[in-house]
Amino acid sequence: MKETLRIALPKGRLGEKVYAMFEAAGYGCPEILQQSRRLIFTNEEKGVSYFWVKPSDVSVYVERGAADLGVCGKDILLEYVPDVYELLDLKTGICRMAVAAKADFKDDLSSTLTVATKFGNIAKEYYASLGRDIDIIHLNGSIELAPLLGLSDVIVDIVETGSTLKENGLKERETIAPISARLIANKAGYAFKKDMIDELCAKLGKQVK
Ligand code: PRP
Repeated sequence: MKETLRIALPKGRLGEKVYAMFEAAGYGCPEILQQSRRLIFTNEEKGVSYFWVKPSDVSVYVERGAADLGVCGKDILLEYVPDVYELLDLKTGICRMAVAAKADFKDDLSSTLTVATKFGNIAKEYYASLGRDIDIIHLNGSIELAPLLGLSDVIVDIVETGSTLKENGLKERETIAPISARLIANKAGYAFKKDMIDELCAKLGKQVK
């Protein structure tokens, strides 16, 4: 039987864009575009099987070998540091990890800074590099609310167009890291299916604009 590459794609707009790159690279699986609740799509002829996974779970599937390959944001790789290979920058899903606060916020260096975020490790590492004491408040979404309601001084969050900040009267203060979608691979899976993965990587690389 022909070997199959198991690929975890992030559910949603980014996943659809990325799937189009796989398809253009010769790894199509047309059924995937039918609107349905199905999560696994296989094209035996092309040797691929795609899974729709919650974006923040992609690296878990890949790290543990439930998927050979996956696509996830660099934010996830920086936050969770999964033990995977990062093979390719797909140069899509481009955004940045940034610090933002209310426009009139004045930082008092003598007091602990409260930081609301989904990305506790990124925030911790960033402020440690500045030697700044912080108190992290973990939230799961709508992070922009925190400074508006006095829950935190600043937020560390993803900024793409900047509209969410703007519409909530927040200002970007510092950029922590540029973010884009990356192709990642399970380490053992890569050793085992190296030729197939290298071929896919070369073909997908040609679709990167
Ligand atoms: C993300 C991020 C910002 C927003 C940035 O939120 O957390 O809130 O997108 O995009 P923009 O700069 O183009 O406005 P998401 O939509 O993932 O929802 P969340 O509030 O659940 O994090």
